[in-house]
Amino acid sequence: MEKKVPTDFTRRGFLCGITSVALLGALTMENAVAATGIKIGKDGRVTLALKSNPALTKVGGVVTFASADGYPMAVVRTSAKKDGYLSIFLVCTHRGATVEQFGNKWVCPQHGAQYTLAGKNLIGPAQVPLQQIPMKISATTLTIG
Ligand code: FES
Repeated sequence: MEKKVPTDFTRRGFLCGITSVALLGALTMENAVAATGIKIGKDGRVTLALKSNPALTKVGGVVTFASADGYPMAVVRTSAKKDGYLSIFLVCTHRGATVEQFGNKWVCPQHGAQYTLAGKNLIGPAQVPLQQIPMKISATTLTIG
């Protein structure tokens, strides 16, 4: 009796897997810093004290935290301007896995989608950017939600 090659194991799939592993290894393994100085209001808004989060003093700095509902979120310093901050959900827009930071990208461990730190799509299968969260910015605090 002839033995069949499993249909889900293809040369292309194998090469894609090897490429993904190599790509992840080439990226800087830098993790975002957990935010400190956070207060969650009764309305669910998160207030983050800037002086407690020095990672946000430099462009490209990232802090992560959880929303009042427990969703993973991040604030990214996108520019040196006073309003150069962005807040996003760290939930992949493909099927909802939590994305992780690898250098200057968010990478989904589920199927390999990649996003810029600002949440724009780079590589599918996700077709939609990471969801941004409205944020009020003052000289001392960021209020998210
Ligand atoms: S859940 Fe993120 S790429 Fe599929």
